Amino acid sequence: MTEPDLTDAVAPVPLQVGPYRLDVPAASDTADVVAAFHDPDVATWNPAGGGEITAEERAPLWIADRATWTSQHASWVVRDHDGTVIGQVSLHHLDHESGTGEVGYWLTPRGRGRGIGTAVLDAATTYALDTLGLFRIELFHAVENEASCRMALRCGYALEGTTRQSYRYGDGLRHDEHLHAILATDPRPEVRPPA
Ligand SMILES: CC(C)(COP(=O)(O)OP(=O)(O)OC[C@H]1O[C@@H](n2cnc3c(N)ncnc32)[C@H](O)[C@@H]1OP(=O)(O)O)[C@@H](O)C(=O)NCCC(=O)NCCS
Repeated sequence: MTEPDLTDAVAPVPLQVGPYRLDVPAASDTADVVAAFHDPDVATWNPAGGGEITAEERAPLWIADRATWTSQHASWVVRDHDGTVIGQVSLHHLDHESGTGEVGYWLTPRGRGRGIGTAVLDAATTYALDTLGLFRIELFHAVENEASCRMALRCGYALEGTTRQSYRYGDGLRHDEHLHAILATDPRPEVRPPA
């Protein structure tokens, strides 16, 4: 995790998705984020990316990094009704000159299967295309990750192909990935926020 470039800081913009707050993470979220990093599915499909660092060591660094928006990065934690962090969605590799970026996400077990992931991805996509004015957002997931694939398709991210062994996931293996993307000119499916 690199040090944020504070000269490029952008004020974070919280969003509301139905009853769920897409928020800037705070130090008080550390225990929720540690628990998320210990979840086997998050650990497998959203790995830290090398280095020997525990979830407890990583969580405060992750929170500080995610709370610091720049022109290349915007991200939110997803809060359940009671404020607990149940997920995150992130826009990164934002390139305003080429109009491109990439999106990533995870939900904790408590947040899954409630339609929240789809609604949150849709909100981040709307922010990227309509508020930031980007033209193309890419989304990668391991081909085995069917929930992520369905969510991408539900939000209008067309499946463009399979990249071969393109990312080493948390199981230590290189996996083939689906590359999805949405363009500003693509049709946008209607996604209703869950209650
Ligand atoms: C992938 C993930 C974000 C999906 O979030 P979610 O809130 O559970 O998804 P939703 O409830 O919005 O459902 C999205 C779609 O996936 C389907 N789905 C959900 N869980 C599924 C599963 N275990 N297997 C197959 N499909 C599944 C839903 O039926 C829905 O499809 P539909 O709209 O065609 O009916 C979540 O499961 C997760 O964080 N998993 C662990 C980490 C991870 O995979 N991160 C993403 C890395 S790319």
